[in-house]
Amino acid sequence: MFGKRSGESAPARPTPVQAAVVPVTPTEQKAVPAEPRVVAKPEIVAQERRHSEEYYDVKTTVFNALIDTIDLTQLAKLEAAAAREEIRDIVGEIIQIKNVVMSIAEQEELLEDICNDVLGYGPLEPLLARDDIADIMVNGANTTYIEVSGKVQRTPVRFADNAQLMNICQRIVSQVGRRVDESSPICDARLPDGSRVNVIAPPLAIDGPSLTIRKFKKDRLKLDQLVKFKSITPDAKTILEVIGRVRCNILISGGTGSGKTTLLNCMTGSIDNDERIITCEDSAELQLQQPHVVRLETRPPNLEGEGEITMRDLVRNCLRMRPERIIVGEVRGPEAFDLLQAMNTGHDGSMGTLHANSPREAISRLESMIMMGGFALPPKTIREMITGSIDVIIQASRLRDGSRKVTHITEVVGMEGDVVTLQNLVVFEITGEDANGKIVGRHRSTGIARPRFWERAEYYNETKRLAEALAAAEVHDQRGQPMGDARG
Ligand SMILES: Nc1ncnc2c1ncn2[C@@H]1O[C@H](COP(=O)(O)OP(=O)(O)O)[C@@H](O)[C@H]1O
Ligand SMILES: [Mg+2]
Repeated sequence: MFGKRSGESAPARPTPVQAAVVPVTPTEQKAVPAEPRVVAKPEIVAQERRHSEEYYDVKTTVFNALIDTIDLTQLAKLEAAAAREEIRDIVGEIIQIKNVVMSIAEQEELLEDICNDVLGYGPLEPLLARDDIADIMVNGANTTYIEVSGKVQRTPVRFADNAQLMNICQRIVSQVGRRVDESSPICDARLPDGSRVNVIAPPLAIDGPSLTIRKFKKDRLKLDQLVKFKSITPDAKTILEVIGRVRCNILISGGTGSGKTTLLNCMTGSIDNDERIITCEDSAELQLQQPHVVRLETRPPNLEGEGEITMRDLVRNCLRMRPERIIVGEVRGPEAFDLLQAMNTGHDGSMGTLHANSPREAISRLESMIMMGGFALPPKTIREMITGSIDVIIQASRLRDGSRKVTHITEVVGMEGDVVTLQNLVVFEITGEDANGKIVGRHRSTGIARPRFWERAEYYNETKRLAEALAAAEVHDQRGQPMGDARG
């Protein structure tokens, strides 16, 4: 099946999976037109750098000479810094021997470029070094997009060809013992710094390997920063803190990249230090500050299709580990059932995220996950289970101007007939747009003075803080009447 197209689209070079150093050969660089290309150190990446044809010629010559000279297996044994030093020395010599005429600055760039190709992730390196990038999206060798401050933009970064790109993908995934090629063209991995990586290769990706990196933020955002970014108001922040502290079961709902994981991470900030927390994730992203944390990660099947550990396996196992809080990075399948049961049976204060565009949709997504999981339960029973377990849904959204907001803090109140009733506590309301196309809006409470988790708040002595924050978040209309409507 894969054979058919392999002639035209497959990377020709076989890649040894376990080799620690696979040089990313800058093949056919001559054929690459003098397109803008980033070779520089992170600070100057934003400027588009153009290199002459000669630069690429020289680079290929020097690179080939380097590969002839050094012993890659020996190089692989060195520490990164030492290996870099070694390469610098040799490249310096090659430049001298070959009588290459280059400015010092150009030589530095060449060195950096070659080091990145041999040791690192080639043209990706400058992007990986930047802290302001949220996502890197490579769509084949010639097209790379990044997301900066909520906006997706194209970069001048390009790879020599799809084979070089594939090589880099291979290098990334082989570090976590996986492999990506035509026979297993889809692969998830993680960079050493914790960034999450997905690769989908030809023939599935038609225009060349597609590589997506969700960059790991060294310091995850805190609730305070979300206030500063106007994602929530100070009052809403207080309400969220109380919700976390009093052990509500929380579902964070949102679209891709809307800030669910960030919010989940923030919410874990209100967990006390003496609680035993177990996290289950597809790829460890959360950074809990508490001392008593056990982190679990799922595992995909191996090449023979064996050995898979699913999220459901983790959540179920977790129940035997005496957790006080269970945190599920992303609920997307039958584990929903086990999480709800856990929430229902004494593990209150558990949290998870889920992909949905509104609190209402989050409920129906949960419902369908359980139905699809093969649990033969009538819909009403499933809904009762949901209302019995989930206390609060927090909705995260990425708005059209790129800003990220908490758009709803919503309570799951109960059932009316067959329907789950929701009650908004705080909503974000769009009121307009400013001259720069930025969305203008406000967070306001819906006038609920006593949420359903009031008793919990009493138990934890948080009612005063809660009541004050809810009252302060109210917005009054022109006649001085509070603007209500809490229906979810
Ligand atoms: N409120 C926010 N303001 C600005 N940037 C944010 C905010 N929330 C998240 N981000 C950034 O957006 C990116 C995606 O966030 P993440 O929480 O991983 O999204 P999700 O889990 O929904 O896919 C990250 O780089 C994160 O730092
Ligand atoms: Mg996430």
